Amino acid sequence: VREPDLTGRHVVISAGGTREPLDPVRFLGNRSSGKQGYALARTAAARGARVTLIAANAGLPDPAGVDVVPVGTAVQLREAVLKAAADADAVVMAAAVADFRPQTYAAGKIKKKDGEEPAPVVLVRNPDILAELSADRARPNQVVVGFAAETDDVLANGRTKLRRKGCDLLVVNEVGERRTFGSEENEAVVLGADGSETPVAHGPKEALADIVWDLVAQRLS
Ligand code: C5P
Repeated sequence: VREPDLTGRHVVISAGGTREPLDPVRFLGNRSSGKQGYALARTAAARGARVTLIAANAGLPDPAGVDVVPVGTAVQLREAVLKAAADADAVVMAAAVADFRPQTYAAGKIKKKDGEEPAPVVLVRNPDILAELSADRARPNQVVVGFAAETDDVLANGRTKLRRKGCDLLVVNEVGERRTFGSEENEAVVLGADGSETPVAHGPKEALADIVWDLVAQRLS
């Protein structure tokens, strides 16, 4: 357990995965469990921070002493994050936000009809919340952190993504069929906009969370 070095700080964390509805019973979703975001919330609270957790469909118990704001879609997540970020010292985007959503929402359940082919699903882009947060900082010294799951060329793709998003830190992990999603453990490299590279050995999601807060605390001091 670290020193209470985040005392007096407000940190905002997004966790889980957004669900983009097609009709009242169906959605496009992803495999994010929310565990890494919840680990970030628990460790920040343990280090003295006031924590706002924007939780997208994680289905996990609310961490003690954390202000939890439940959301469903990327658009709702954006609203909640921007509102909470207004007075935040740091924002960590650990949620898996859908890049696209169905263009139309059917108010009634979509039905199959005899002899008819299904209608194609047309997707439109969701806002890139991390890029927006990074470009329009609510406070001059606010630290913005993103996550990236890559399947190959992890470091090179991570560097490109860090620049494109404009965030201060990007936690890059390699994903595959049995890695990271839903698991209790993680392995990553944290890339800094200052060129720094912090490897994090395979271990509990809490350990990675504490290293992220170490790097955030350095940048806040
Ligand atoms: O572009 P990609 O989805 O790989 O980027 C991942 C990072 O960007 C994560 O931190 C995620 O929370 C954030 N993101 C976002 N808005 C989106 C898509 C991703 O903030 N529409």
